[in-house]
Amino acid sequence: MVMRVSTVAFEGIEARMVDVQVQISPGNVVFMIVGLPDKAVAESRERVRSALIASGLALPAKRITVNLAPADLPKEGSHYDLPIALGVMAAIGAIPADALNGFTVLGELALDGSITPVAGVLPAAMAANERQHGLICPEACGQEAAWASSDIEILAPRSLIQLANHFKGTQVLKRPELGIVPASGSLPDLRDIKGQESAKRTLEIAAAGSHNLLMNGPPGAGKSMLAQRLPSILPPLMPRELLEISMIQSVAGLLADGALSNRRPFRAPHHSASMAALVGGGLNARPGEASLAHNGVLFLDELPEFQPQVLDSLRQPLEAGEILIARANHRVTYPARFQLVAAMNPCRCGQATEPGYVCRRQPSERCIAQYQARLSGPLIDRIDLVIDVPAVTAADMILPPPLEGSADVATRVARARQVQEKRYAALKLEGITTNAACPPALLEEVAKPDSDGLSLIRDAANAMRLSARAFHRVLKVGRTLADLDGEERVRRIHVAEALSYRSQADRRSAAA
Ligand SMILES: Nc1ncnc2c1ncn2[C@@H]1O[C@H](COP(=O)(O)OP(=O)(O)O)[C@@H](O)[C@H]1O
Ligand SMILES: [Mg+2]
Repeated sequence: MVMRVSTVAFEGIEARMVDVQVQISPGNVVFMIVGLPDKAVAESRERVRSALIASGLALPAKRITVNLAPADLPKEGSHYDLPIALGVMAAIGAIPADALNGFTVLGELALDGSITPVAGVLPAAMAANERQHGLICPEACGQEAAWASSDIEILAPRSLIQLANHFKGTQVLKRPELGIVPASGSLPDLRDIKGQESAKRTLEIAAAGSHNLLMNGPPGAGKSMLAQRLPSILPPLMPRELLEISMIQSVAGLLADGALSNRRPFRAPHHSASMAALVGGGLNARPGEASLAHNGVLFLDELPEFQPQVLDSLRQPLEAGEILIARANHRVTYPARFQLVAAMNPCRCGQATEPGYVCRRQPSERCIAQYQARLSGPLIDRIDLVIDVPAVTAADMILPPPLEGSADVATRVARARQVQEKRYAALKLEGITTNAACPPALLEEVAKPDSDGLSLIRDAANAMRLSARAFHRVLKVGRTLADLDGEERVRRIHVAEALSYRSQADRRSAAA
């Protein structure tokens, strides 16, 4: 007889149903796994055998065949141990044959029969819930699974024995509680920053509309400091966003103790990062930093120091909000709607824009041009806000700390975000909640400036030779400025301010 157990295979954050079929038949004593298993799955044989022996169950001296169907879908990872072991247990009568009906199972086994945590439990629980299955997963992942739905049945045993006892009715497992890690520890506050009022204002606009931001200034001006304070003014996560983020973290195996975090992601990879680390891929097509920053911030400090190809690989996700990784036998997409925040020095020595400074290496202009040529024009074109952050003056440094801190700014940002959410919900735009993500076709409707604003943007577009994309970016920023002011229409002052963030970018791409 063939025992069947349902489990999943991951394709991006999607969990595909996989059927584990176990057959025990007379013949040579072998234990075989077929159905495109990778190395970890093939090794599962040894773990299953040892775990069953440790649980007091000897494998029958017969031929055991395990088939993972559909056979053409690659199976990766160690979470097939538990479904295979349970299939064998059902086949030898250690648990009732029908006990596993209506359950999706995933988990890794240790040699002593305990069940160890695996990645991807949340997406697996969502998939199980969709087909009205319960879920059997490791104890440590139970909390995470409980997020899928409030009425999905979850069994989160610590060991094979505990699960067998549950099915026998001698030790009933209880449903795990929902877990959420409250934002612990305080974030760095904007109040620490003296002076830099215009940079702080830009940070607020970036947070309000989820706009991409590039800060350019000499070393020590406080660029990294400003970027690190962005999380303290970002709006709270909506439940749907929280779930999306958690799915990615779950697949990446980053959910600590199965509890979700209600903080927006802030990822700051080092400039030596490889393309696979940034956009994902490599062995098992794991999500990269860009996907882990979904619904949050990707902060690239010292932008020109990143390899140019690595930076250019961000162009497509910046536009599409997702990353497609094509592999030899299948494709994987990960969501990647992140806010790009970048900081850079104007040149290699860093001082070229300081008044009165003469570059030691060569004429300052050449030093600047060479350094900035490392950034491609199309990448800069995707950044809505480009600002110069000048060095803080001594006069600013001796000022008392500013009165306004992150909490005040966060309130204004949250208000502006609510306006945007309402607007895009009314337009029935699935998944779009910010001005930055507004599709160009719709922009001319929602961000149409009043007649004064229109004439200004028309003149400026000619004079500054704005590209079509740049034109749309000005409209997006203008919309955010109006939202921050609580205004229905985008007015001339909003357009003027939005244009001011653009002129820097155009100077920069002209230099590049
Ligand atoms: N506006 C400021 N207010 C207070 N301290 C500042 C300010 N700007 C810079 N600093 C100090 O200078 C240090 C370096 O700032 P940092 O953000 O690393 O500069 P950058 O990234 O621009 O090179 C900070 O750790 C902070 O102590
Ligand atoms: Mg820095």
